[in-house]
Amino acid sequence: MKVLLTGATGYIGRRLKVRLLNEEDVDLRLFVRNARKIRDVSLGCVEIVEGTSFDRESLKSALEGIEVAYYLIHSMGARGDFMELDRISAENFREACIEAGVKRIIYLGGLGTKKHASRHLLSRIETGEILSARPDKIQTIWFRAAMIIGSGSASFEILWNFVEKAPLMVVPRSIDTLTQPIAVDDVLTYLVRARGLDADGNHIVDIGSEVLSYREIFQKTAEVIGVNRVFVPIPRWSMRFISPFFINIFPVPRRTTVALLKGIKCETIIQNDNAERFFPEIVPVSFKQSMFKAVDEIENSQVLSRWSDSSGAESCDVKDHGQIAHEVLYDRKVKDFGSIPPHFIFRSIMSIGGENGWFTYHFLWEIRGFMDKMSGGYGISRGRRDASRLRIGDCLDFWKVADIEENRRLLLLAQMKMPGKGWLEFHIDGTSLVQTAYFLPHGLKGYIYWYVFKPSHFLIFHDMARNIIRRAGDMKD
Ligand SMILES: NC(=O)c1ccc[n+]([C@@H]2O[C@H](COP(=O)([O-])OP(=O)(O)OC[C@H]3O[C@@H](n4cnc5c(N)ncnc54)[C@H](OP(=O)(O)O)[C@@H]3O)[C@@H](O)[C@H]2O)c1
Repeated sequence: MKVLLTGATGYIGRRLKVRLLNEEDVDLRLFVRNARKIRDVSLGCVEIVEGTSFDRESLKSALEGIEVAYYLIHSMGARGDFMELDRISAENFREACIEAGVKRIIYLGGLGTKKHASRHLLSRIETGEILSARPDKIQTIWFRAAMIIGSGSASFEILWNFVEKAPLMVVPRSIDTLTQPIAVDDVLTYLVRARGLDADGNHIVDIGSEVLSYREIFQKTAEVIGVNRVFVPIPRWSMRFISPFFINIFPVPRRTTVALLKGIKCETIIQNDNAERFFPEIVPVSFKQSMFKAVDEIENSQVLSRWSDSSGAESCDVKDHGQIAHEVLYDRKVKDFGSIPPHFIFRSIMSIGGENGWFTYHFLWEIRGFMDKMSGGYGISRGRRDASRLRIGDCLDFWKVADIEENRRLLLLAQMKMPGKGWLEFHIDGTSLVQTAYFLPHGLKGYIYWYVFKPSHFLIFHDMARNIIRRAGDMKD
């Protein structure tokens, strides 16, 4: 079966790619905006088409000869009107599928009704409606899931950090609202099985595990962590005054946390029994089992994807790192590392950030992270997916990995809120470590920003390069 997977660099897509590669009868093609984000071991076995759903020509080449197409695209982080972008994207995709003679679209959206939906959920519902709008021409299987629990999922990371770090849990009063979470592995099983589903016509399939209130979800999370927590329910309107105090403990940006907290007021319960009817062999695991599995993956460095993998925006965030050539301001440190083998230097560079810290002046990084979080950015609590390995597109606190050249170069793109565009490059040149911070200021504010932070650069960057070399020396010994 010729299968196209879109959104293959996103949270669900990366995992679905691995599952589909294990299906013997699947001939897989991926549609991605930047093929460098998925250059891993599986590349030899799949065909890759680069493009975007806003470009009909690239869609046409991606869909040629395809029987089943997975639609896992969304533009939630886009600066413009993401709902409009999602509408255009879904329409383009459906029409291109019809033209190419695709038999089935499989789509995963959110669970909930239009009446109380957030803009994000509303956009997911609209996408499903658009994809399903021409049942005479193409069949759509539309899955709907509420909270997805898995290592690296936004819901998991928010729950875990909240329960682990806040002894007094200040929560909205609507904490007794019901929802139906589901393990990411079960979602993937439904998606994989749907390609062979023996049914005609469009179908909406609601999926989920046991029905739980948010209070029960918090309690069960506390049991998994092994702590006791006291709940302090407060009116929802007062959350906005409290949330700034909590915001720094969440790895996700403020607007995602606020959107998820707002969502608590709406019940998200399965509305049909199609999951049982079409897939009786799938019995979703309990909430607690899904939490244990997520923890197990984290402990064993098996986190395949994270909510931060995708750029979410209208264009891929790590695509145009060629722009670095147009930088106007930079701060460069060159340090000789003598007889230390370069691959140790590279290993040391690749371990920077997250729980490993930035090797120097940790309090200054913390302050910068807090400032960023307060202005709506990621801060440094986002951490990293894996303690020692990085791939293009991975987040690293408030940076994103834009390029990796084995044993030669690591390029990080700054994602902190600032009036300009920044990069941090580590380059191994002979026996020298060349570490450069680049900045492309946006107007006068950009220049002021750069010169205000320049004294801290002097301290941080000088020490950072020295400590990278020192750590590499320790590794060698
Ligand atoms: N994750 C959850 O917890 C969850 C829960 C319930 C439902 N769902 C649903 O599952 C689906 C997938 O979610 P996800 O979390 O995997 O999303 P995600 O991580 O944000 O990934 C989105 C993917 O879409 C790609 N993309 C965005 N715009 C594109 C365009 N114009 N052309 C081509 N590709 C584009 C992104 O590529 P880049 O890497 O280039 O940005 C990325 O691969 C969504 O419909 C979502 O509503 C997810």
